[in-house]
Amino acid sequence: EARAALGEVIGLCGRIVAFTGAGISTECGVPDFRSKDSPWRRYKPIDFALFVSDVLMREEAWRRKFALDDICASAQPGRGHYALANLVANGKVSAIITQNIDNLHQASGVPEERIIELHGNGAYARCLSCGARYELQPLRRDFEASGAAPACFECGGAVKSATISFGQPMPQAALERAYQETVRCDLFLAIGSSLVVYPAASFPSLARQRDAKLVIVNGEETPLDSEANLVLRGDIGDILQPFAN
Ligand code: OAD
Ligand code: ZN
Repeated sequence: EARAALGEVIGLCGRIVAFTGAGISTECGVPDFRSKDSPWRRYKPIDFALFVSDVLMREEAWRRKFALDDICASAQPGRGHYALANLVANGKVSAIITQNIDNLHQASGVPEERIIELHGNGAYARCLSCGARYELQPLRRDFEASGAAPACFECGGAVKSATISFGQPMPQAALERAYQETVRCDLFLAIGSSLVVYPAASFPSLARQRDAKLVIVNGEETPLDSEANLVLRGDIGDILQPFAN
């Protein structure tokens, strides 16, 4: 029925864009944002303006970041990630636009140039002033020893996880690439997102406006279900398993 239809539409389409959210990573032990017992309810994200202006909030942000990292410390890609990695390798999927910061598309073997990260990446950090890159392990060691939020060795600027916080400017190059891929695809496959956070959630509608097919795979209803050509409601790993090997 619906699952056979997914195989059929993937078979028929030649240029697929996959768009992923937190739901593709829950089977890997990475919690999503809006489920009932999400740790995000405890470790509420700190707005960008506060991170920049308030050193105590900056320290709190780093505490929460490391606490969350501990929750998903050894996460490995799941069935959904491997299914998409296969579809990229087969030349079916031209790009994976992701809202996730967990680095699991990279870990599943998808080449970096096929991955478009709209909300950054939590596996490293950057200076907000000069862009210098920092690895997390040494930052964490210093933070736990001193209690002070990390500052850039090059310029003294504030160092922040390389993710996009609420209120932080979106990465323009990633948005532009996501736009170009979306208007060129013939199938837009939205997987594991509640589709409520903008501008990310504007891409599925853009695909529809450009006459691509829209397929939504998610465990619960989304506000864009009525725009979709096909909605698959169920467990992502189960639904994508047939493409994973
Ligand atoms: P959400 O937590 O909002 O949505 C995840 C969706 O996946 C929910 O609808 C779940 O029901 C569904 N889901 C979870 N596990 C599933 C499974 N195994 N099978 C099927 N469905 C499953 O996460 P996102 O939509 O990714 O932004 O959230 C979007 C953005 O909001 C995030 O990127 C983050 C957050 O604030 C920033 O940090 C800027
Ligand atoms: Zn710097």
